[in-house]
Amino acid sequence: MLLQLFALLSVTSAEPFSLLIGAGTTALIAGFYGSYSYTKCFLYECCIHPWIDPNITGMRAVMKSTFYGQHIAQQTVPAAIQAHLANENPSKALVMSFHGWTGSGKNFLSRIIANHIYKRGAKSAYVNTFVATTHFPHREYVSTYQDQLRSWIISNLTNCPHALFIFDEVDKLPVKLLDTVKPFMDHYSSIHGVDPRKSIFIFLSNAGSEEIARRAWEYYDAGRPRESITLREMEEMLSLEAFNQGGLKMSELISSHMIDHFVPFFPLERRHVIECAKDYLKSQSIRASPRQLEQIAESLTVC
Ligand SMILES: *[C@@H]1O[C@H](CO)[C@@H](O)[C@H](O)[C@H]1NC(C)=O
Ligand SMILES: *[C@@H]1O[C@H](CO)[C@@H](O)[C@H](O)[C@H]1NC(C)=O
Repeated sequence: MLLQLFALLSVTSAEPFSLLIGAGTTALIAGFYGSYSYTKCFLYECCIHPWIDPNITGMRAVMKSTFYGQHIAQQTVPAAIQAHLANENPSKALVMSFHGWTGSGKNFLSRIIANHIYKRGAKSAYVNTFVATTHFPHREYVSTYQDQLRSWIISNLTNCPHALFIFDEVDKLPVKLLDTVKPFMDHYSSIHGVDPRKSIFIFLSNAGSEEIARRAWEYYDAGRPRESITLREMEEMLSLEAFNQGGLKMSELISSHMIDHFVPFFPLERRHVIECAKDYLKSQSIRASPRQLEQIAESLTVC
């Protein structure tokens, strides 16, 4: 009887003791690891706040003060990004396609976006830029490129689900390459082991720029302010244009509606260039007479 009691006691007392050691060690390791990753993320970029720190108010303000003549981009882009980032469980990645001539501000806006989401801006490890002529120059290697691009995106998303992907010169991409990217933009919670739904994809392309310029000219010619051109009338036209030429030609991205917004970038009018030159001179604390300003605007083709 006594022996049984003793056995019972030693069992009940031994168990909590070993549990205690276990819990203590785990807490110690967790504490150590926690402070390690805390220190690491204090010094080096991590996929968390404050390295990822969306500042949509700032994005809007900068666009308003430096981004002339692009009313549709101003209305559409910050709102789309804000809604996407505010959603804890977005159903798919945010995908935007920017269209317009070189110099109309597509790259400039991509930088503004990166600068107002990531603390390190465009230099962030989570901003992945693919340039058609640099990364995918040879059309005949499209299947190699597809494998490469897929594994890049997987590793980039493994690093950080809040990644930003920018595809520059989409009109020069080998046709069909982007179909590799499609599953990452779809409503899958897991694709090749990563969850792509928190990321943002931006395509930059010249496709449709002639149409955009023509539409702007028609409004100008009719004496109507270009600010009255609506997103709706442009979107339909741009998706058609993109489907018919360049890297999005016949793309499943378009036919299966993976692209959330087609954003037109209009060629700048003279008044926009003058505003832009004024801004630049002010930032450099240079005073210029109206005549000098005219001359400067004359020599500027891009802003
Ligand atoms: C938000 O962006 C604006 C414009 O770039 C900047 O002036 C401001 O300091 C930013 N705010 C924060 C908290 O980073
Ligand atoms: C992410 O994408 C870039 C291209 O921007 C690529 O060079 C890089 O190897 C990818 N993977 C990682 C883990 O960063």
